[in-house]
Amino acid sequence: MSEEITFYKCATVPLEMHRARIVQKLELKPVEERVRAITEAGNNTFLLQNKDIFLDMLTDSGTNAMSDRQLGATMVADDSYAGSTTHERLETTLRDIFGKEYFLPAHQGRACEHLLAKVFVKEGDIVPMNYHFTTTKAHITLQGGEVTELYYPDALDVESANPFKGNMPPEALREAIATYGVDGIPFVRMEAGTNLIGGQPFSLENLKEIYAICREHHLPLVLDASLLADNLYFIKVREDAYKDATIREITREIADNTDIIYFSARKLGHARGGGMCLNDRDTYLKLRELIPVYEGFLTYGGMSIREIEAIAIGLEETMDLHMINQGPLFTEYMVDELVKRGIPVVTPAGGLGCHLDAMQFVSHVPQHEYPAGALAAAMYLAGGIRGMERGTLSEQREADGTERLADLELLRLALPRRVFTLSQVQYAIDRICWLYENRELIGGLTFVEEPSKLRFFLGKLAPVSDWQDKLVAKFRTDFGDSL
Ligand code: F0G
Repeated sequence: MSEEITFYKCATVPLEMHRARIVQKLELKPVEERVRAITEAGNNTFLLQNKDIFLDMLTDSGTNAMSDRQLGATMVADDSYAGSTTHERLETTLRDIFGKEYFLPAHQGRACEHLLAKVFVKEGDIVPMNYHFTTTKAHITLQGGEVTELYYPDALDVESANPFKGNMPPEALREAIATYGVDGIPFVRMEAGTNLIGGQPFSLENLKEIYAICREHHLPLVLDASLLADNLYFIKVREDAYKDATIREITREIADNTDIIYFSARKLGHARGGGMCLNDRDTYLKLRELIPVYEGFLTYGGMSIREIEAIAIGLEETMDLHMINQGPLFTEYMVDELVKRGIPVVTPAGGLGCHLDAMQFVSHVPQHEYPAGALAAAMYLAGGIRGMERGTLSEQREADGTERLADLELLRLALPRRVFTLSQVQYAIDRICWLYENRELIGGLTFVEEPSKLRFFLGKLAPVSDWQDKLVAKFRTDFGDSL
């Protein structure tokens, strides 16, 4: 049965198919306090305190709004160390949705990546993927492997009309197999809603082509389904062949074209946790052995039972087009409004949130002074809005200590699903516009404390000049006493 998608196409603004009945008070601190907060945080938005933030657009991870049904379900969770019926409920839901025989729980997405890397990756291995994610790459390299990214050239074009920038070129995969050999490739990874290039989807047609090549060479295809909900929406509305298919049908077809599915339930399922679904019994047994060592007993895998209950309901709700459309529609609204005002932003609009192109926004800031990180600090100063740097700061240095300059310098302003109102999004647009008008005032950052692994989480930085004082002075001139 096809799902009707015309009603919200008629609307000129995104229309929420839910109502908010529990709310949380927010505070917008004066700009002087924001200066104190960002300085104390070492200009790293990860280190800001929640109480100092007005709009938290850092991530959509574990911050999506839960439904009344999800919250209700947490109260009836069957809390036991072993043999919980709640776990069984999640297992049944996943089997029903993905059609895979086995499910293994893990405390979050990166825990799945850790276990998959441990089971599959050995020294010198190469893992082809449509694009890397930070934690994925970290776990593969920790095992002595390497990532090779296979994408079409316009995947990294900030402005593009390609509706499926997350596609992997089949000929590039064939070439990689010829170069590294089947023995040097433990698995091929496709990431739904490709995070680091702006939440960009792959098409189902592409996934099928990639899977056919994997089959031919007996290589497992691993799907990172953390951002699957957005990808499902984009297949439905952008891929002609699937415009009449239901979300459930599209999901099953995706699952049928992968061997292992893993996910962060902090994104998929609007709760917190993760897990892996697969059919191959040998692989299942190898992975299963590691769960009690690293995660917890098999019927909770490091997750709270309440969250497991919420994931089961959240996954069911994900099969509803009118639930999963809210994120992409809000993102599209924000992106379109920024494009109209000439602000450089990743197009087409993806899932997850809006991605400002710092390379153009602050083109005068060199990459080794972290333009996207600098823009993140400036965005917080301008509006109490917390975004996330997705650029050189999020990369790891080369073995010899030189900077690995990122392909893209993005400031991600995530739109956790069903959390913000449209007026809050409009406020963010206003502050971005002000910042753009004053972009010449924004300067770079330099490390003061630099961790050797995943440095963007805990590293501390300082402005390279007094540019923040000048930006705040301009803010006071333009906004007077207002916040
Ligand atoms: N894969 C993708 C595509 C992700 O976006 C994330 C997390 C993970 C794996 C790891 O999952 O956080 O549950 O361990 N992304 C978060 C973000 C951190 O903010 O984009 P996790």
